[in-house]
Amino acid sequence: MTDTTASRSLAGFTGHVVLVGAGQMGGALLRGWLDNGLPPARITVIDPRPPANVQAIIDGSGIALDPIEPSIADVLILAVKPQIADEVMPLVRHVVGPRTVVVSVMAGKTIARLEQVFGAGTAVVRTIPNTPAAVGRGITGAAANDQVTTAQRAAVETLLAAVGRVEWLMLEDWIDIVTAVSGSGPAYVFLLAETLARAGAAAGLPAELAARLARATVEGAGELMFRSPDIEPATLRQNVTSPNGTTHAALQVLMGAKGIDAAFVEAIAAATKRSRELAG
Ligand SMILES: NC(=O)c1ccc[n+]([C@@H]2O[C@H](COP(=O)([O-])OP(=O)(O)OC[C@H]3O[C@@H](n4cnc5c(N)ncnc54)[C@H](OP(=O)(O)O)[C@@H]3O)[C@@H](O)[C@H]2O)c1
Repeated sequence: MTDTTASRSLAGFTGHVVLVGAGQMGGALLRGWLDNGLPPARITVIDPRPPANVQAIIDGSGIALDPIEPSIADVLILAVKPQIADEVMPLVRHVVGPRTVVVSVMAGKTIARLEQVFGAGTAVVRTIPNTPAAVGRGITGAAANDQVTTAQRAAVETLLAAVGRVEWLMLEDWIDIVTAVSGSGPAYVFLLAETLARAGAAAGLPAELAARLARATVEGAGELMFRSPDIEPATLRQNVTSPNGTTHAALQVLMGAKGIDAAFVEAIAAATKRSRELAG
């Protein structure tokens, strides 16, 4: 596995990238590529109705819409909703040629399914990003088939690293667990801010004050962890926990028998199971 922690300049990127679906995730990728210097001439977008903010980026940068040149893609990124993927993928097959690597950021679309649509010998990377990609702080798990060359892997990694970190997965099967941990993960953190606020209000604080405290705490703790890459989360936790102090009292409840560990094991198992059920 490779952990790519820093985005790299895309100014020298030599391939042509075709993005299918320029919504939330596709739009985040597009912004990341342009911010990291990918020349607009190297990008084509296929999307009949991008959201206004993405359309403005396309118009402002002169990115081409809808390629007419067959086999133009060195990298084809599929970022439409999984529900319409089976309808859309055959429509973009013509941009795929012998040197193309097909990259899916679509939940639940297996490598086997993509090979079925684009041809058995096609290089395919299946990924699962997450929403902090919108601020360049996402993390993407990526699984490649045997057709993906070292150069294609490097190209894909550079493109994905424009919106955050990249973890290469040895097994495609792990994608469902990655979906449960980091794909859905931001929701768990937002829930933490919500529940902390509710608990503060339940204990007697005005609800709005409790919400501000909880939100700033989650934001600040995340930032502290981000700026302390060499310190384990457990150490950061211990650093704010004095023996028999207030944090210790709360953690005894959270880490007790019916605490957060058991809840998360169950939650991740449920999300992994659901991801497997939705795959096809
Ligand atoms: N957002 C996330 O947190 C997240 C995380 C991990 C993975 N993903 C994956 O990313 C993919 C996209 O999700 P999203 O949230 O970015 O969805 P989205 O905002 O709906 O973006 C999809 C875009 O594709 C467009 N589209 C519709 N039909 C098309 C066609 N025939 N050809 C080209 N583009 C077409 C949509 O236009 P209309 O709106 O007009 O239909 C929309 O602009 C999904 O497969 C999802 O599983 C998302």
